Amino acid sequence: MDKQKNRLITVAIDFGTTYSGFGFAEANVLGESSIQVFRGWGRGQGFSFYKTPTCVLLNPDGSFCKFGHAAVETYTKALAKGNNKDFIYFERFKLILYNTKNLSKDTNLMAANGAVVKALDLFSVCLAYIGDKAMECVNASDQRGRTYKSSDVQWVVTVPAIWEPTAKEFMREAAYKAGLASPADPDQLLIALEPEAASFYCRTLQMKDFLGESGDQLVNEDLASYIVIDNGGGTLDITVHEIQEDGTIHEIHCPSGGHLGGMHVDREFQRMLIMVFGEDFINKFRREFPNDWQKIMNDFEIQKRAEQGVDSDEVSIVLPFNFVNAYSRDVGSDENINERLKEYFKSNEVDVRNGYLSLSLDVLARFFEPVAEKTVEVIKSLLRKISQDNINTLFLVGGFSQALAMRKAITQAFPDKRVLTPRDAELAIIKGAVMFAQTPNLLTTRVMAKTYGIDINEIFDGSKHPEEKKSEICGVNYCEDIFDVLVKEDEKIKVGEKRSFFFSPVHPEQTTATLRFFSTNNKNTQFVTDPGVFAENVGFQITTPDTTKGLRRNIELSVYFGGTEIKVTATDVNSGTFAKAALRLVTKNLS
Ligand SMILES: Nc1ncnc2c1ncn2[C@@H]1O[C@H](COP(=O)(O)OP(=O)(O)OP(=O)(O)O)[C@@H](O)[C@H]1O
Ligand SMILES: [Mg+2]
Repeated sequence: MDKQKNRLITVAIDFGTTYSGFGFAEANVLGESSIQVFRGWGRGQGFSFYKTPTCVLLNPDGSFCKFGHAAVETYTKALAKGNNKDFIYFERFKLILYNTKNLSKDTNLMAANGAVVKALDLFSVCLAYIGDKAMECVNASDQRGRTYKSSDVQWVVTVPAIWEPTAKEFMREAAYKAGLASPADPDQLLIALEPEAASFYCRTLQMKDFLGESGDQLVNEDLASYIVIDNGGGTLDITVHEIQEDGTIHEIHCPSGGHLGGMHVDREFQRMLIMVFGEDFINKFRREFPNDWQKIMNDFEIQKRAEQGVDSDEVSIVLPFNFVNAYSRDVGSDENINERLKEYFKSNEVDVRNGYLSLSLDVLARFFEPVAEKTVEVIKSLLRKISQDNINTLFLVGGFSQALAMRKAITQAFPDKRVLTPRDAELAIIKGAVMFAQTPNLLTTRVMAKTYGIDINEIFDGSKHPEEKKSEICGVNYCEDIFDVLVKEDEKIKVGEKRSFFFSPVHPEQTTATLRFFSTNNKNTQFVTDPGVFAENVGFQITTPDTTKGLRRNIELSVYFGGTEIKVTATDVNSGTFAKAALRLVTKNLS
């Protein structure tokens, strides 16, 4: 952390499933007012947004072409002209890090045109682009005309708290590849957990900074334990904290959540289109007119943000000419379609006329229901697991928390809690991540989400070890594949805590020892071969060159629980020669 003090600027990148952005502040100037969130996204398209779509376009040779609004625009134009085949375009690709079990540096992603790109390369070109943009912006906005270099920056990249360590580590590797910090100076990059970062921001606010609230009172004054719910585009990410008397923060339950978020509303809308126009028609239309399909979805993205009780009681989505033309030919006239709609909807709830699809706000609200119900269920199930005595507040953050339907559903489901949504809920993560980097030691206790262990051999004991695990090495019977626990699921650990474990070789002549790391959510695991055990890393080798002490050599394994990551170091103690290696809990190919 000492090195951090020398950094002049803090830049936090929020790389979201649907939207991304960044914010920055001078490293030693604390407080919300000192944080600037870049607001120039979409300028080329005539907009001025705090976040840009997480979409990337690569040139046919795989090199970086465009990111964000510019990528969407260029790709949509190419689609319209039908010359999109060479464009390598990706959207919503962050989800791969949540969905892929054996994530590695070789994990591939397939673009819309079928081209295959390494996920690590894709994330790194995006981070490099955002990083460059951030440097440009930091330098342009410095009022004293100073020019900063990337090495002056304390970088922060946010990741969902519910991600596996492998996925978090993947982001770190991608950031290194992008030139934000390097393995030689890992402290230059902090990985911040999204809901946790947001909590740093929320805790500094006054009541009037929350939607529907007023007054100058600091929310912190009334805060004991609280839950932060980050409702993003593709992830629901929940963290529970308790503020201690000395002001430090303890995590009191491991992160929970799932693959929910705003994308599910878009899915309900698509389901409705299929209901109205037929699955075959919609699928064919998407294939033949992908740019028009994109336009419909873009328009829905704007219209779905309509709030009940404001201006109108319906929203209208423009149906492109090709769409109207195609359904008039393949499905029927507006009258036929409206007639059919009566089967599914009350009169005037949905109407197709003159190139518009109109939806009543009630129908729009129904698109939110399935995801709202699931979200409430996840929160309820979390609350069932923890003591609620002190939990008086739920903070809703992330863009999707801005949806009235979500806020309503959560407020109604938890009438005895204060449900507070910051007015700039979608920026809470970026701003909080800057604050987190400025005071990273505030969070002092974490709860482990999984059990971690390594694979060891023990002297065979017939009373507790099964015969099939017996193996003889140099005349000694060992039991193989034992899952030796380093830290248990639900165990509370102090941030910065170091635990040491000692091992001895099983062969007197061996000069290398391999440590393999595993994780599981099954508390009764005995062997690394048991169901539900995953290999976190294979092939971490330590050399132990001096064999004179035979089996009486010691290898020390230190497990260090950092702020948001776990690091593992092995040292050959007995040889006298120093042998040390560092390892993070990642899949084998990443190190
Ligand atoms: N006012 C609103 N009403 C409804 N939905 C909204 C509103 N504002 C934003 N959203 C939705 O919120 C989502 C974007 O939120 P956010 O920017 O926090 O997500 P993200 O960071 O991209 O995703 P994640 O955190 O899951 O990786 C999108 O699905 C968007 O449609
Ligand atoms: Mg997010």
